[in-house]
Amino acid sequence: MAALQNSPSSSLLGTLAAGCLLLLALWMPWGASAPITSNCRLDKSEFQRPYFINLTFSLAEEASFADNNTDVRLIGDKLLRGVHAKHHCYLMKQVLNFTLEEVLIPYYDKFQPYMKEVVPFLEDFSHKLDQCHIGNDDQQVQKRIQNLKDTVKMLGESGEIKVIGELYPLFIHLRKACI
Ligand SMILES: *[C@@H]1O[C@H](CO)[C@@H](O)[C@H](O)[C@H]1NC(C)=O
Ligand SMILES: *[C@@H]1O[C@H](CO)[C@@H](O)[C@H](O)[C@H]1NC(C)=O
Ligand SMILES: *[C@@H]1O[C@H](CO)[C@@H](O)[C@H](O)[C@H]1NC(C)=O
Repeated sequence: MAALQNSPSSSLLGTLAAGCLLLLALWMPWGASAPITSNCRLDKSEFQRPYFINLTFSLAEEASFADNNTDVRLIGDKLLRGVHAKHHCYLMKQVLNFTLEEVLIPYYDKFQPYMKEVVPFLEDFSHKLDQCHIGNDDQQVQKRIQNLKDTVKMLGESGEIKVIGELYPLFIHLRKACI
């Protein structure tokens, strides 16, 4: 019922919104459509490094053997759901930053020999995204990141192991979001 009653006004809103978008599109000069997110890109070739991908996979696999909490998944479509697609790369950049700074680097001495190869490999992506910002539009992304941090903190050491165990999906989502 409520949905039926709402539909005329929501379709009017939809028409208005479409009109605004059209005006915006007409008003924006060509080639200037995404100035803020234009640095949130990685080249496909950067991901075509089978040796490092293999090591990342092996590291994640080893950590996931030690992860006995299978109810919680940190990295997946749910993390990105509701976040505008043009902000996905920025979100994954922040996930990567958290993963490096708060998990991989503190755990550097564990999971050798993989860690010493995988950390620089992932740091390289992080450096290439140094200039990726989305300005003041980032509350939603910050909320997701905070949520991720809180979950990991709540799980304690097993949360950190889980982050390492999910490096491969992290890599896949970074690729999907940024190329
Ligand atoms: C990954 O490396 C392991 C060990 O070096 C090797 O056995 C395996 O075939 C490699 N896998 C791929 C997909 O390259
Ligand atoms: C993580 O982000 C902070 C703040 O932007 C930056 O100073 C730091 O270098 C980043 N760390 C990595 C490993 O990229
Ligand atoms: C796995 O579960 C056991 C028993 O519940 C626990 O003592 C151990 O710390 C867990 N391992 C990790 C890596 O969380």
